[in-house]
Amino acid sequence: MFLFKTMPLVSTILILIILLAGGGQGDDKTDCRLVKESESERKVLKLLEPLKNRDFNLTVKTDKDDYTYVFRVCGAAVGVDGAGLVQINNKNEKKTRIGNYTNAQAIGGSDWVMLIYTGGTEYESHCNKESRKAIIMISCDRRTSAGDLSLVLEDRERESDCFYLFELDSSAVCPVLQSKLSTGSILLIICFSSLAVYLIVGFLYLRLVVGAKGVDQFPNYTFWTEIGNLAADGCDFVCRSRGSREEPPTYRGVSTEPLGEEPEERDDHLLPM
Ligand SMILES: *[C@@H]1O[C@H](CO)[C@@H](O)[C@H](O)[C@H]1NC(C)=O
Ligand SMILES: *[C@@H]1O[C@H](CO)[C@@H](O)[C@H](O)[C@H]1NC(C)=O
Repeated sequence: MFLFKTMPLVSTILILIILLAGGGQGDDKTDCRLVKESESERKVLKLLEPLKNRDFNLTVKTDKDDYTYVFRVCGAAVGVDGAGLVQINNKNEKKTRIGNYTNAQAIGGSDWVMLIYTGGTEYESHCNKESRKAIIMISCDRRTSAGDLSLVLEDRERESDCFYLFELDSSAVCPVLQSKLSTGSILLIICFSSLAVYLIVGFLYLRLVVGAKGVDQFPNYTFWTEIGNLAADGCDFVCRSRGSREEPPTYRGVSTEPLGEEPEERDDHLLPM
């Protein structure tokens, strides 16, 4: 019985918790270090949270070369300190840093995110011996949480600003679909289903275990009737106009009637006998 006595209290607390939980959401940080700290770039990085610490491997084999690229979102790829994208030469196992996740930039649009890792190993002869840079273009694809990494091009036949361009599909960067149900209606549904479960379980418990009959099968019957009475009193107080509370003695045309009469029997004499 204790359980059912505390039920209304417990459900009130639960509803409060649900309401409060909606307000504050976790503020976890990604490990990417931005070249220039900025609020908008942090927001873009937050989108990539579901992809964090996943490896994306890509092997590119030509007549001359055999490379494997390993990309990690905001984490060290193949354990190379600070490197988010590493090129492994499969012939001699040599690892080349393409870009640091500790020197990142993040740019986002409606259904794409461009992640840029700068500060890689310098080119030996190309590109004015600049340091390498990786651009990873992540596009929205609702069918996959994370697709395959692909290399679009390595642009190094130029004076400066060379880059490796990669592509990746992911649902993480898709625009949020507007939920058909608002938060309010979801809360209402939760409230009503809790109420239904409470009533059904309470009813079954009282009927089958306690063996209650009639209105006593209704869980916390006294509690709820008290609530009902209080609500009715409140409504009475608010809605009723002041005059009718103290009825004039001439109300029924019979001016003198002794006070303290049972209110239920007052109208009996009006009925045809
Ligand atoms: C990616 O490649 C690296 C290096 O070859 C390897 O250590 C890692 O296990 C691979 N990851 C996956 C998911 O294949
Ligand atoms: C990239 O990271 C490595 C290791 O942390 C570091 O030595 C290097 O200076 C970084 N590059 C830049 C441009 O900061």
